[in-house]
Amino acid sequence: MKTIAIISPKGGVGKSTIALGLAVAAIKAGKIAAVIDLDPQATVAKWKDRRAQDDPAVVSAQASRLVPTLKVAEQGGAEFVIIDTAGRQDDSALQAARHADLVLIPIRPKMADLETLPAAKDVLGMAGNPTAFVVFNWLKPNAVKQAEEAREIVRQTFGLQCAPMHLSDRTIYADAIATGQTPHELDTDGKAAAELDALFRFCSELVNNGTCEHDKGNERAASAA
Ligand SMILES: Nc1ncnc2c1ncn2[C@@H]1O[C@H](COP(=O)(O)OP(=O)(O)OP(=O)(O)O)[C@@H](O)[C@H]1O
Ligand SMILES: [Mg+2]
Repeated sequence: MKTIAIISPKGGVGKSTIALGLAVAAIKAGKIAAVIDLDPQATVAKWKDRRAQDDPAVVSAQASRLVPTLKVAEQGGAEFVIIDTAGRQDDSALQAARHADLVLIPIRPKMADLETLPAAKDVLGMAGNPTAFVVFNWLKPNAVKQAEEAREIVRQTFGLQCAPMHLSDRTIYADAIATGQTPHELDTDGKAAAELDALFRFCSELVNNGTCEHDKGNERAASAA
């Protein structure tokens, strides 16, 4: 079982959106996926209440119960577990990062979000520096150059790696979450689904092989724009 934690000290950056999108992308790729919701806001658990489909399994848990919850997921046959965490400072990001094969840090290309990266780095340090990537969310669909510049700032200023693809500003993300779905189900062959699939492939290659095909990822992101 591979575990991916989504953390960010900043609220509203797309953590839950990405957690759900990755889980459904995994299912579409033929994998058994589950989501553990460590956020007391329970965005993911409430999404599951609205959802017609059985998959993915969603468990709402306290951060202090993460280890036994992961064990249950593994015994249940989960191949990918995505952990969604709270935006405000609490124990959930640290616990999730501690037990993850891969940590994703969603961020919008805004100074107010970039300024929270040192706090995210602190959490990673306390968690033993797991493999972690910043993921830019909410860029304009054709902002490939802006995305590359933003990635360079993150690398140089904050010393963090960035995923080679980004998620664009698309209304389908909010429409999908409101109806217990993800973009995959509202528009199977759409651009948002393609973005999430590309991010899932990137994560899957990383957690399974320890490497990823950055250049191919860039090509896919550009073609999805
Ligand atoms: N790329 C995007 N384009 C358009 N809307 C988006 C995008 N990503 C997320 N959203 C919307 O932004 C809102 C906040 O996203 P989300 O709940 O995933 O953030 P979060 O980081 O989990 O927030 P919190 O810190 O409160 O848990 C949601 O309504 C979601 O649908
Ligand atoms: Mg959330």
